[in-house]
This record gives sequence, structure tokens and C-alpha cells, in this order.
Amino acid sequence: MIIQPAIKSNICVRVHPLGCKENVRRQIEFVKQSGEFKGPKTALIIGGSSGYGLASRIALGFGCKTNTVNVSFEMEPRGATRTGTAGWWNNIFFQQFAKEEGLSFKDFVGDAFSFEMKEVVVDYIKKKYGKIDLLIYSLASNRRTDPRDGVTYKSVLKSIGDEVRGYSIDITSLSLKEEIMEPATEEEINNTIKVMGGEDWQMWVEMLSEAGVLADDFKTIAYTYLGSPATYPIYKDGTIGQAKKHLEQTAAALDNIVKEKYNGEALISSSKAIVTKASIYIPIFPVYGAILYKVMKKHGTHEGEIEQKYRFFKEMIYGNERITDEESRVRPDNLEMDEQVQSEVEDILKSVSNENVREITDIEGFIDDFMKINGFNFDNVDYDEDVDLEELAKLEL
Ligand code: NAI
Ligand code: NA
Repeated sequence: MIIQPAIKSNICVRVHPLGCKENVRRQIEFVKQSGEFKGPKTALIIGGSSGYGLASRIALGFGCKTNTVNVSFEMEPRGATRTGTAGWWNNIFFQQFAKEEGLSFKDFVGDAFSFEMKEVVVDYIKKKYGKIDLLIYSLASNRRTDPRDGVTYKSVLKSIGDEVRGYSIDITSLSLKEEIMEPATEEEINNTIKVMGGEDWQMWVEMLSEAGVLADDFKTIAYTYLGSPATYPIYKDGTIGQAKKHLEQTAAALDNIVKEKYNGEALISSSKAIVTKASIYIPIFPVYGAILYKVMKKHGTHEGEIEQKYRFFKEMIYGNERITDEESRVRPDNLEMDEQVQSEVEDILKSVSNENVREITDIEGFIDDFMKINGFNFDNVDYDEDVDLEELAKLEL
């Protein structure tokens, strides 16, 4: 099959396996060039197939030889047209590179929210590794079935109170379109908290703890985005922000338990805005992202997911350079939050239009990242090559 990109309403409906491989390879290369550091023996990552979860897995695996167990929800290729999801291929090629490196790893593909998945994973950890030292919670989903009542909740990306007006980026035409973020109902807010809040994270920690598979000094970290006044209306003060607030409350509760039982810690970490499968869905957010890329690249402080996570684990989690805020959140987003950066971003936000979007924002770099997370736009991948999806798709489970 010869795979060309196909974008429909800003979603890449096809992905290129060999480009996904290149994406994983480049992240590994970055870590190897940056050097080893001391980290955890065994980590469980929920959502480790793409974005920040995958970068965490690569930073730990290739940076500290950590054994990594990953739970993700991905689709394998099917038939003549369905290429599978990028995360499916990322898992495959992570495995291939990890094997070459002599690392220990395991993948579970399915619903992390379910009891069944938790049982299988806990059981595996118990038999194979005995204990884990780290649990990363990097899940992004628009729905969750609560295993206790079987009800499926859907999250929404909406504002609270007033509507918010801004622009969205149309990926195929490289242009801006006016976009309105509608205010959510009370029910929508509550459902979003059910999906993206801390309930499931807490269930994981409780099940792992009850099974006796948490090591002394065990750490668990959930990822959040705090952003700046420029993004508050669409993120922190919107529905997703309410879910993240719940995640923070969960962290506080878990921290007490984990401290007492394991002398460990439960942390929230706020990461930098980047292009991922999840973030591209947030209305108005991509424009902020394209501007942020422009400003941070100009200042030489721009980071992709792997640069961000490598620095995070090496310096802030397993090193002595942790940056925290007044709420004890760990802040690898410090470079994004820099005052000068934010003031320049706000200036550009005020003047951006279709006429100047290519000059004053990094819309091209932003979209290039979008193509790359789907396996396209790599100069060293031959996109005319006929790829055998079935042959490539031999994921070890
Ligand atoms: P992503 O879409 O790249 O990754 C989401 C992961 O969750 C994937 O591995 C996917 O397979 C997994 N997943 C989804 N539903 C699942 C299910 N039911 N069972 C098992 N796995 C499931 O997203 P991204 O952006 O890396 O998000 C991860 C975390 O990072 C989120 O908490 C997000 O809020 C946070 N974050 C993201 C930022 C960004 O700019 N992308 C900025 C700051 C924080
Ligand atoms: Na992720």
C-alpha cells in the first residue's frame, strides 16, 4: 500500500507507519545524545503510545533503562484502507528499538478505564517485575465508561459561563477560521470531570497498592496543562480545566496515602503546549500554539515532547532541579510561562489575521508537527514505497 496523507476536518484519517517509526527513532536519538540519568527501575505508563506518554516512556527507557509497561487504546490496521492509528505503530516501533537496546517492556492495548485491564496489568506486574516505582498517568480521552456503574460519560471542550471567540486553524488551507467556543451545561461539566478528572487515576493507584506492587519511594505523576491568561478562557476556566482541578484534588489525596505507606509522592505536573492527537481538538488552542512556537523558537527555548519530558525526569523528578509552584505542582512549562514569552504571545494574538498568519505565527511549524505525529513530512522517509501493513503490524502482546 502506498500511503498518502488524507486530512478531513483537521483529522488525519491515515497514518504512515514508517514515518511513525522515524518519529520514535528521532526521540530515542535525542535521549541517547543527551545522556543517561538515574531513574526508576520499573514504570507503568497509562497513555504511553503517543504525545507526552510516549515521550515519557522513551525518556525513561532509553535514558535510565527503565522497564516500561504501557497501557494504550489504539487501532491496528485493517483491510485495504485503514492504516491503524499512529499510537499503534509507535508501540510497534518502540518495541523494536527497545528490543535492540536490550530493554524490558510490555504493551497492553485496550481500555485503561476498565477493571479487566487493571487486573491483567496488576497481575502481569506482580509476576514479571514484582513492583513498580513509578506510575505515569498521561491519558487523554473524550469518553469513559465507569466500570462501577457501566455508564459511559462524554467529555466536552467548552467554556464556562460566556462563549469564547477566536480562530481555529484549517490545516489543509493553512488559514484561520472564526471559531466560537460554546459554554457548557452543568451536566457537560460534570461529565468532563468524570472522564478527564482523577477518578480513574485513583482507581489505578488503589488497585496497585492493594495488590502490593508499589515499591518504597513509589511516585505517581499525572499531567496537566495550566497555561496563561491567554488560554484561561478556553482551558483552565473551561470544562477541561474543571477536570484538571479534580485531578489536582486527587493528587493531594493520593499524596497523603503514598507518603505514609511508601514514603513516596503523588504529583501533578504542568507541561508545555505542544501538538498532539489530543491537543489539536481543543478549539482556539492551535492558534495559541502556533504563536507560542514562533516566540519560543525565536528565544531558543522551544521544546517538543521529548525535550520536555527528558528535562522533566532528569532534572525535576530524579534530579535536584525541581521547579514547583505555590500549589506544589511541578512546572516543566516554566519556559512557556516566561513573562517575556507570554507578553510577546499576547501581542501577536491581538493582531493575528489571515493576512499575516504565516509571518507572525509559526503555523507552518505547527502543522508540520501535526503531520509528523501522523507519520508524514519526514525528509528521510520514502512516501512512494509500497508498505506491507500486515507484515509490519506484529505487535508483541
Ligand atoms: P495523546 O492523545 O497523544 O495521548 C493520549 C494517550 O491516551 C494515548 O496513548 C492513548 O492511547 C491513550 N488513551 C486514550 N484513551 C484510552 C483508554 N480508554 N485506555 C487506554 N489508553 C487510552 O495526548 P497528550 O497530549 O500526550 O495528552 C497526555 C496528557 O498530557 C493529558 O493529560 C494532557 O492533558 C496532558 N498535556 C498535554 C499538553 C499538550 O499540549 N498536548 C500540554 C499539557 C498537558
Ligand atoms: Na500521551
